[in-house]
This record gives sequence, structure tokens and C-alpha cells, in this order.
Amino acid sequence: MGKGKRVGIVGAGNVGSTAAFILAMNGSCHEIILRDNKIDIAKGKALDMSQAAAAARSHTIVSVAEEPEQLKDCDVVVVTAGSPRLPGMSRDDLLLTNAKITREVVRDIKTYSPNAIIIMVSNPLDAMTYVALKESGFERNRVLGMAGILDSSRMAYFIQEKLGYGAGQIRASVIGGHGDDMVPLPRYSTVAGVPLNDLLTDEEIDEIVERTKHGGAEIVGYLKTGSAYYAPAKSTTIMVEAILKDTKQIYPCAVYLDGEYGYSGIVSGVPVSIGANGAEDIINVSLNACERKMFKKSVDSVRKLVETLEAHNFFDEENA
Ligand code: 2OP
Repeated sequence: MGKGKRVGIVGAGNVGSTAAFILAMNGSCHEIILRDNKIDIAKGKALDMSQAAAAARSHTIVSVAEEPEQLKDCDVVVVTAGSPRLPGMSRDDLLLTNAKITREVVRDIKTYSPNAIIIMVSNPLDAMTYVALKESGFERNRVLGMAGILDSSRMAYFIQEKLGYGAGQIRASVIGGHGDDMVPLPRYSTVAGVPLNDLLTDEEIDEIVERTKHGGAEIVGYLKTGSAYYAPAKSTTIMVEAILKDTKQIYPCAVYLDGEYGYSGIVSGVPVSIGANGAEDIINVSLNACERKMFKKSVDSVRKLVETLEAHNFFDEENA
């Protein structure tokens, strides 16, 4: 029997398990392998999802990796493992805790799925993508972070809500890091091809931009004991499917910049073409002075996080 496509999902919490469910319902791959410290919870979810897949007449099966070596030969591994963001907690508070978790997880991926493409989802997203890249030693096209699709979807929804029409026809654009300094680009946002400026006032657009920046916190504020997961999970599966199907479609994703947008040695969200080789092309969108300034601020805040990790000797061999 030939090997079908295998997708590993590390962290079977709300985001990881919802992403697994979407992939199973879509029949996006042959097998989904969940890995979580809470093995029984992961087993229960895998069984439940496998049965849902049978109901949906989907060929996808969902299993659990009880040991790291069972997460072997994956084509894509999604990493959602980490401490969740709780009310009053910034994404940055999670930095060190999640960096250590990411390091452990990525070591296993490197050992058992050395050809996988890694999609990071854990927060703070851009810094965790940086950690995954450094720890894996993979080429940068094989380590991506999910955030831009989520932030753009939030912006699209807020545009629709403000307009009262256009659902499903909105293309919103958000680049930069997944934090309070993210860079929504109304100038590159359209409703059925109509520029946003022709539909909304500057003031209304500003409101949408602000709400987008705090879109995650708004949901944490309601859920209290956790953060968003439907939109994060759906956004993740869009990336997984683009890789598995080699679509080469363009999505905003966190990638390591090597001169693009004038930055090197740091991760930020920019439009990339995603295919079987991961981030196959990085698209340089022209930015005006104001957008460039915002992008710089966003890159600077991710750099600060990486510097914080460096200050804790996180990347030093003897500390690893
Ligand atoms: C979000 O934006 C918590 O970063 C997560 O929903």
C-alpha cells in the first residue's frame, strides 16, 4: 500500500482538534495524527473524529501518537502546543514557556518527520515560528506561521459587519506580526473588487483597523477561559490544504525574511505563494510611507521578543 498524505497535529486542544476535524471532514489527507500530553483526551477526540469521518464518508482516519516516534513521515506538521492565552495575558507573556515547548516539539519533528513542512500556530506566533526555524534547521520555505489568514478574515468580517453586505466577497489584507502592531492594509482590501475607500469613510475604516488589531483579545474577553479557535483552525487548514494540493495560491503567512521588505533575520507576516514546498515565493507588496512605518514597528516588536529569548540564553547550545 502506498503512503497516503499524513498530517501531524501537535496539541489537541481547541485549535488543534478543530483543525483536525475540518481536515477530516474535507478528506484532505489519508491520515491525521494527533499528539498531546493528555493522551486519553487525544484518543477520545481521535475516535470521535474518525467516527464523524465515517459518517461523512470521508477516507481520512484520525489516530494518536502516544510516543514521539509515532509522529513519523508526516508531510505537514501543525504545532498548536503551548500554554493558551488567558484573560489579561498578552501574547508575549507566553513567550518563554511556549518557546521551550516549541523547542521540544520541533526536535521530535526533525527526528521523525524530517521532510515535513511545519506550520506554527502557538503564540506569540512570529517568535515561535522563528524558534521553530532555528531549532529545526530547515530551509525557511518549510517553516511557516499561521496568523495572516486569521487576521485578514477578522478584518473581512468586520468590513462586512460595517457594510451590512458583501459576505464572502471581501478580500482583506493584513501583514506584519500577529500582535497589537499588526498591519491591516485597507488600501489592499476590496469588496467584490471594489476598493474599501469607495465604500466606507476614513473614520469607519480606522474603526475596522483598530478592531482587527484586537480581534483575538475581543474573543478572549468573551470566552474568559481560552481564546478563539474556529477561525484559527480554519485558517490553519487553508495552509495545510494549499500544501497538500500544491495550489500555489497566495496567503499572508509568517515567514523568515531574507531581504524582503528591507528586513533580514526576522519572521513577519507577508503574502506568500503556498505549494508542496511550503512558502514557495514571497510576494513584495509595495507599501507607502505610512504602511512601511507600521510594518517597521511590527517587525521591531517581534525582534524584541527574539531579543528577550536571547537575553535568557534560549538559543545557546549549553542551555538547550
Ligand atoms: C488569537 O488571535 C489568541 O492569537 C490568538 O485569537
